[in-house]
Amino acid sequence: MSSKVIKGESIEEMKKMDDESIDLIFADPPYWMRVEGVLNRVEGTEFNGCDDDWDQFDSLEDYENFTREWLTECYRILKPNGSIWIIGGMQCVYSIGAIMQQIGYWLINDVVWHKKNPTPNFKGTRLNNSHETLIWATKSKKSKYTFNYKTAKELNHDTVSDSDFKKGVRKQLGSVWRIAVCAGNERLKDDEGMKLHSTQKPEELLYRVIAISSRKGDVVLDPFGGTMTTGAIAKRLGREYIMIERDEKYYEYGLRRIEKEVFEDSDIANAVFDKKQKRVTMTEMIKAGFFVENEYFYLKNGEKIGTIQLDGKMLYNGEVIDMHTCAAKAKGVKANRVNGFDVWCVLRDDQLVPISDVREQYRATLEE
Ligand SMILES: C[S@@+](CC[C@H](N)C(=O)[O-])C[C@H]1O[C@@H](n2cnc3c(N)ncnc32)[C@H](O)[C@@H]1O
Repeated sequence: MSSKVIKGESIEEMKKMDDESIDLIFADPPYWMRVEGVLNRVEGTEFNGCDDDWDQFDSLEDYENFTREWLTECYRILKPNGSIWIIGGMQCVYSIGAIMQQIGYWLINDVVWHKKNPTPNFKGTRLNNSHETLIWATKSKKSKYTFNYKTAKELNHDTVSDSDFKKGVRKQLGSVWRIAVCAGNERLKDDEGMKLHSTQKPEELLYRVIAISSRKGDVVLDPFGGTMTTGAIAKRLGREYIMIERDEKYYEYGLRRIEKEVFEDSDIANAVFDKKQKRVTMTEMIKAGFFVENEYFYLKNGEKIGTIQLDGKMLYNGEVIDMHTCAAKAKGVKANRVNGFDVWCVLRDDQLVPISDVREQYRATLEE
């Protein structure tokens, strides 16, 4: 399979594709925004929202029929263990979600893209609409879809401060993502220097979606390509891509954008955080000299707790218990066991070193 950018009608083009041939779909369809009249900013200039021809529908029935048709094609071409993301605003996301469930999709998450820099409600007549919703779904409840859980943690800057992140703190990625709307140099301009597309999505959003829900080499399809943000980021992350867009201008600019993109060959692209680690035991690490029988294990605050035994258990207050139970006791937490590799340190050259680092050093010798 090689990547391609297709100029054409998305439903017709998807009809030409094989059943169950796509790993991941990202769709940013027409929202049917129903924008009417001219909207002015507070200082009087005209706000250029989305009133494009491609976003016009005659009625709710018309919009729903279109939505059902393209979502049915996506369902057919998606692999059984693939997944699909659809982004929408309040105008369309409820229709889309209902139709998805009628077709048979299984919803995994809905994600709120909380815009750091939303367009204000210029007239002050209702709440400032500062989010859009992404629906993440599979073909069935049984789908074994890709989720790079640890990669997602690496991308979580929403609930971890920059300073904590630098210190190594990682937390589960949640379903509210704080990302700025596409602006500045990232925003594609036409030859007259005007904004090319009214709804170009931020690269950071696509980066998260593709990095966490696909693997290198997977095929990512976007049936509504626009400026080809999906294709550009798929290429950056080493995925194949199929992009469909019917507008000549968007197609041309988008194609050039993708051509300029290069594979970044990063830990995120390769999802190294999610690679299954070889299981190693404390006994073999002691035998290999990475730990010393009867050496002290410490908490991160330097408190000396117990000594490690050859069988991997710990001698603590006169009893021999496994190191995970001992970790829970030493930390005084409610749980009976906590992962000792997240808790214990040893002394190396008078410095406290997490035993998980020592384990990595040992694993590295196995790979050599
Ligand atoms: C919401 S925009 C996608 C923007 C894109 N995600 C980006 O970051 O630039 C939807 C795009 O779908 C295209 N489109 C709408 N209906 C289509 C159809 N039936 N077939 C192909 N393209 C279509 C429009 O021209 C528009 O560029």
